[in-house]
Amino acid sequence: MKKSLTLLLTTCVVFLFCCTNATDEEKKEVVLKEPASVEELGELLFFDPLFSKDSSISCASCHKPAFAFADNIPFSFGVDSTPGTRNTPSAMNLADRGFFFHDGRAESLEEQAKGPVENPMEMNMPFSLAIDRLKKHKQYASFFKKHFGQLPNLENVTKAIADYERSLQTADTPFDDYMSKYDTTLFSEAAKRGRKIFNVKGKCFDCHFGPDFTGDQFRNIGLFNGKELNDSGRYVVTKKASDIGKFKTPGLRNAKVTAPYMHNGMFKTLKEVIDYYDQPDKFVSNSINRDTLLSKPLNLTAQEKADLEAFLISLTDRQFK
Ligand code: HEC
Ligand code: HEC
Repeated sequence: MKKSLTLLLTTCVVFLFCCTNATDEEKKEVVLKEPASVEELGELLFFDPLFSKDSSISCASCHKPAFAFADNIPFSFGVDSTPGTRNTPSAMNLADRGFFFHDGRAESLEEQAKGPVENPMEMNMPFSLAIDRLKKHKQYASFFKKHFGQLPNLENVTKAIADYERSLQTADTPFDDYMSKYDTTLFSEAAKRGRKIFNVKGKCFDCHFGPDFTGDQFRNIGLFNGKELNDSGRYVVTKKASDIGKFKTPGLRNAKVTAPYMHNGMFKTLKEVIDYYDQPDKFVSNSINRDTLLSKPLNLTAQEKADLEAFLISLTDRQFK
């Protein structure tokens, strides 16, 4: 008994000694699964905290898989618990988009990926430092050699992340079953009625159209008043007065799980979003430059609102059920 206790204690001491003697790099280096493609290499990068200054957060810390790669709070926290100033959008269904960020300041996913790494409110470090870390990492260095024939560099790292993001397309929904196979098992009568309201009375389709329910345009739905609502959106990029308060029209797939909504996360539920579109002045009476599509109240009945919500919910991929 005494002997085994001594043995146990010695093992603990040796273990402690080894661990405290390990360098920071060794302690953090986890064994990664060999990626079979560039896309899978991108997946490893997306989930790796190595991209943040203090190795505390990864892309997935804000773009959470369970919420369709969006966040479930108005403003995500970056390194040192610094909150951002805009809501984290879903990183899914972006393969066909031509603009990224709420103000569209990046025009490709490759270009977009550089943003969060260097942003002081997000990962807060020069991209070159991330590249250095990857080059020094034995496994990553060999993965990049295998898939790109080169060591990690700005181009291949952003390409891998972008390829992974392009793979995050979702079309396994009750709505898609209905459209492709007239299968109404899950596309309810309410969702059918809601689709009509979306297309006609609600005027949603005028801005949210195409396979992912976005026309990829910048529009002003009235969430800028120059006071407490002071993010001028697209104007930050173009400096054109007509762009004040315009934001990228987001796609609506999986909206059920990407709450809270809008660039500033001001609406907690889809019901609130629908109430807003129904009577924008009740929420923001002094908005500047609001689109004329929203100039009159929609006057939706309670039933119509519920139907519209049922339609939005029918755009949820089965993986989020
Ligand atoms: C601290 C939280 C945070 C981290 C970490 C983060 N993001 Fe984001 N992401 C955001 C926010 C907030 C926005 C919107 C910013 C804006 O519009 O100005 C955004 C926007 C995006 C977009 C644009 C989506 C669209 O619809 O236009 C993509 C793609 C994206 N991030 C991918 C990434 C990748 C890749 C990483 C890791 C390299 C990453 N993000 C790390 C919070 C984060
Ligand atoms: C004039 C164009 C326009 C019309 C009409 C419109 N939208 Fe939008 N929608 C937008 C824009 C732009 C945003 C992003 C605003 C922001 O980020 O502040 C948005 C955001 C949303 C969001 C939030 C998505 C997210 O992930 O944050 C939902 C949900 C939505 N709209 C549903 C609807 C519904 C339902 C209707 C019809 C009742 C509708 N929209 C009508 C342009 C429009």
